[in-house]
Amino acid sequence: MKLIFLGPPGAGKGTISDLAVVKLGLPHISTGDLFRAAVKNGTPLGLKVKDIMASGGLVPDELTIALVKERLAQKDVAKGWILDGFPRTIPQAEALDKIAAADKAVNFDVADEIVIGRLSGRRVCRSCGKIYHEKNMPPKKAGVCDVDGGELYIRDDDKEAAIKVRLDTYRKQTAPLIEWYGKKGKLLAIDGVGAPAEVLGRFEKAIKK
Ligand code: AP5
Repeated sequence: MKLIFLGPPGAGKGTISDLAVVKLGLPHISTGDLFRAAVKNGTPLGLKVKDIMASGGLVPDELTIALVKERLAQKDVAKGWILDGFPRTIPQAEALDKIAAADKAVNFDVADEIVIGRLSGRRVCRSCGKIYHEKNMPPKKAGVCDVDGGELYIRDDDKEAAIKVRLDTYRKQTAPLIEWYGKKGKLLAIDGVGAPAEVLGRFEKAIKK
């Protein structure tokens, strides 16, 4: 099964992906994670995208499409994938159709005031990438990852100014994909509000239909 996870920043795409991959046995491919790894490792790609990401803007389509094309050529995608954070523009969606068309685009619907609260409290493990929230999903020990003891950090783009840019960018460039996939009959709309287990349950019910 080839699935796209759509939704505004902070909708819970990464959180639900982490739960869904365990159930579905599919690889989780997050373009945000791939770009963050490139930045962390100081690769030529990382140097190009670092400032764009920190400001909350989108990486140019040609770089993003090339990255996804390379990732989808790897062996572990034979049974399908969950693409989290891609496509984010109509040209990216058109490019994906040529590489490997998705079966469904799952849109997690969450209002702005909720996503702002989620993003401003997000903490991420520097070594394994596990996602926490200081109030909603706190680690057992403040600032320390439950899984591997890694340090928890605040993403550069989770600062107030960048969150505003990301929400504007989402509305202008990414939200049109909801209608785009709707017209193709591939859209699954999921209410993204509630505990992660509840949202996961709605997602599982929707993909079984
Ligand atoms: P990316 O990493 O994809 O960021 P995003 O889409 O803005 O999504 P987030 O990771 O912020 O949110 P999420 O929906 O995954 O929420 P999460 O589960 O973490 O992209 C980052 C940047 O990379 C982009 O801005 C851009 O520069 C670049 N980029 C990436 N892809 C690109 C592309 N295709 N084209 C161009 N540029 C691209 O949850 C958020 C918080 O909420 C967490 O603290 C979590 O604990 C909490 N939470 C989650 N679910 C719940 C729940 N149900 N109830 C309560 N709290 C919850």
